Amino acid sequence: MQTVVTGAAGFIGSRLSERLVSEGHQVLGIDCFSDYYSRRLKEFNLRHLKERENFTLLEGDLLDLDLPEILQGMDWVFHQAAQAGVRASWGEEFSIYSSSNILATQQLLDAAREAGIAKFIYASSSSVYGETDDLPMREEGRTRPVSPYGVSKLAAENLCQLYYHNFGLPVISLRYFTVFGERQRPDMAFHIFIKAVLSGEKITIFGDGEQSRSFTYIDDVVEANLLAAESRLKGEIFNIGSSKKRTTLNQAIALIEDITGEKATRVYQSRVRGDVRHTSADLSRAQKLLGFSPEVDLAAGLAAEVAYIKEVYRL
Ligand SMILES: NC(=O)c1ccc[n+]([C@@H]2O[C@H](COP(=O)([O-])OP(=O)(O)OC[C@H]3O[C@@H](n4cnc5c(N)ncnc54)[C@H](O)[C@@H]3O)[C@@H](O)[C@H]2O)c1
Repeated sequence: MQTVVTGAAGFIGSRLSERLVSEGHQVLGIDCFSDYYSRRLKEFNLRHLKERENFTLLEGDLLDLDLPEILQGMDWVFHQAAQAGVRASWGEEFSIYSSSNILATQQLLDAAREAGIAKFIYASSSSVYGETDDLPMREEGRTRPVSPYGVSKLAAENLCQLYYHNFGLPVISLRYFTVFGERQRPDMAFHIFIKAVLSGEKITIFGDGEQSRSFTYIDDVVEANLLAAESRLKGEIFNIGSSKKRTTLNQAIALIEDITGEKATRVYQSRVRGDVRHTSADLSRAQKLLGFSPEVDLAAGLAAEVAYIKEVYRL
């Protein structure tokens, strides 16, 4: 297949591109190397891909590129590019979120419609749900984001549905729940914690550490993208999370201590605006319709992330 992966230098996009390339697909990766985190880490993400003949990198901002031209002759689009991060999305910074997450998605959808793309997979987020006691989160449940980032991801998801209903564009949105593993973004908790623990630095926990997440291993997210692209379904939205119901941050830190053999020095601070207290994914739809069945548990995935952090920072 001729495929486009947006955000190909990022955490999820690079791993997804590797899988597609290894399965023989022709991949055009698009990334603008946004300054949300260091270019060095993104170059590290790309180091194996750059050696592959069936991978091409196009460096540029989705908003500046001739997307209708680029998408001509393409079969699948995996739209992973976005300005990520919940906490940074307040205030003036929101203009980046609205342009990179909403406007860029609309322009990509429009170009995909024109090009007659066979499948458009959108990387949505559990942040579209916001705060709820109605756990586990179900796709048909209420969406009321509590961060500007979540609002931008939901707006783009709604645009995907709009292009499906109005133009029949074969779109599937995957709502990822906190993804972890090798290459995890440097602003995400496990990356920060593992690096700090290995460096003998203290870790700051916002809240009491009893907040819980459905932590999802990167390769399970990649697998979900492939399943969605290969399925006959369209216009669908799926939760992509872990099968384990509830893991608290404190439990995850204890696991990091076990794996590294180092003791974490914890500092607890007050909760941050926009952080959801609990996320938990109801996976029954993804299991039934996509055959999605997450395989990697937290300890195994964390061990892989620890090995990555040691390698990338030479710790
Ligand atoms: N990591 C998670 O836990 C998680 C959870 C839910 C949803 N998501 C979604 O998954 C996707 C990938 O997230 P990630 O963690 O890999 O983030 P990431 O920041 O590592 O990757 C995103 C990439 O997109 C690129 N990019 C941003 N704006 C762009 C633009 N306008 N034009 C071209 N490239 C652009 C960035 O340079 C970056 O390399 C995002 O859409 C994110 O919202 C991630």
